[in-house]
Amino acid sequence: MSETTAAVAEANPLRQGLPRTRVPEPCAIVLFGATGDLTHRKLVPALYHLDQGGHLPSECAIVGFARRDWSDDQFRDELKKSLANPKDAGFEAAWADFAPRIFYDASTFDDPEGYAKLKAQLDKIDATHGTRGNRLYYLAVSPEYFAVIVEHLGKAGLIDRDGEGPWTRVVIEKPFGHDLASARDLNRDVSRVLREDQVYRIDHYLGKETVQNILALRFGNSMFEPLWDRRYVESVQITAAEELGMAGGRGGYYDKSGALRDMIQNHLLQLLCLVAMEPPVDLGADSVRNERAKVLQSLPTWKPEEVARHVVRGQYTAGSTGGNDVPGYLGEKGVAADSTTDTYVALRVTLNNWRWAGVPFFLRTGKRLPKRATEIVIQFRKPPTALFDIDPDEHGGANLLVLRIQPNEGASLAFQAKIPGSRRRLQEVRMDFRYGTAFASPPPEAYERLLLDVMLGDPSLYTRTDAVEAAWKFVNPILEAWADPGAPRPLDYPAGTWGPDEADQLMEGTETEWRRL
Ligand code: BG6
Repeated sequence: MSETTAAVAEANPLRQGLPRTRVPEPCAIVLFGATGDLTHRKLVPALYHLDQGGHLPSECAIVGFARRDWSDDQFRDELKKSLANPKDAGFEAAWADFAPRIFYDASTFDDPEGYAKLKAQLDKIDATHGTRGNRLYYLAVSPEYFAVIVEHLGKAGLIDRDGEGPWTRVVIEKPFGHDLASARDLNRDVSRVLREDQVYRIDHYLGKETVQNILALRFGNSMFEPLWDRRYVESVQITAAEELGMAGGRGGYYDKSGALRDMIQNHLLQLLCLVAMEPPVDLGADSVRNERAKVLQSLPTWKPEEVARHVVRGQYTAGSTGGNDVPGYLGEKGVAADSTTDTYVALRVTLNNWRWAGVPFFLRTGKRLPKRATEIVIQFRKPPTALFDIDPDEHGGANLLVLRIQPNEGASLAFQAKIPGSRRRLQEVRMDFRYGTAFASPPPEAYERLLLDVMLGDPSLYTRTDAVEAAWKFVNPILEAWADPGAPRPLDYPAGTWGPDEADQLMEGTETEWRRL
């Protein structure tokens, strides 16, 4: 154990035995969309922190590729601005070491010359920085360029499809397709140039530490799994609430997407997979991804009348969040004046499989809700007979396991305890686990883990073709039902509220209520 590891373990015995650092092979990382928000807010900070933590090889270079006519120095200056931390006394020295490994290429995404220049530059970087021909291309661009870039990379000889030598891996951001047909088209276009194991479709929720902890909790303990099925679980609810509206000029993108495509098709369905999947035989990428895909394959294909019964869509109107008045969705920049885009979706679904038959899963997500909170609640069935007096407000005595994905990352188990005294009355009490307290540090950023995994060639936290298509198969009938000219408009909800009241009706006839967050 190194001195630092020993010191941390001494300060916190729970960190003892945690895996040691894995360092990937030398490589060049090309960021398409290098001037965009994602590169500046997430990707480069993640690479910088990985480097600071000793997780990147020293033979590693970053090349930005985008339309803006910047020089290497301009690109470096812009990145420095997004990274600089006045509280970090060592920043200037660390940056001086990191910056010379960053380069910039200006080109449109469909100009063969731009790719020829990139190839020459990467060959040069191999020679000067020892990156050994290994390439990671990250497509942080708008989706219409995914296939274009992959095709040009192929034509320019920048992808080694069949070689056994240096590796080529391509990370494709979301959304992967706009519906089932376009996702299939994209998969077809991409597979003409790349092998499936070279494609990394990202869903950043899978990189969140708390999301990975769902599997640890389920399969690293023996006490939960025996109860984890239709016999003992009453319902599952998954909420991803956001306070933000269309900040940062997102209206234009969002208006073509909506909550169902933006959050449910990917992030919430992935959370559902982790809660509902069968134990994999091991933690290898294929084993885990096989089990996740099976959950998606057991989702129903709804008819329009079932969509109307099981799905509530909403759109925020003017209201207030965090004490400020905010405009309604239709007043946001980039949004069509008569838009029917969903900014809120709640749905109730059951899985057609042996473990979960009949158990309702409730999913909800929305913009401009009262606060940012993502959590999963497993509600267990009540005891078969009521021996004690139970406070009726407390889910009739049902035990709840709450997994807090963010913020206040952790988990809590609610159970009944006798109130001291001569009466036989029970009250809900909680056992609570908090990441920050238990591990003495906040969980790392999702993009750090995900970028490291691509460099290491581990696709377990990325989404495979079959899973993407299965998720779209579930979502497509909902999109089609909403696209019907006779379909009602989304229901209004004032910004700063928990969405349309109709979402409560999804729970009628069950023992479940939406949890107050
Ligand atoms: C993105 C969506 O994928 O996830 C955004 O496009 C959303 O609309 C974001 O705000 C939420 O991510 P996080 O990590 O903040 O929960």
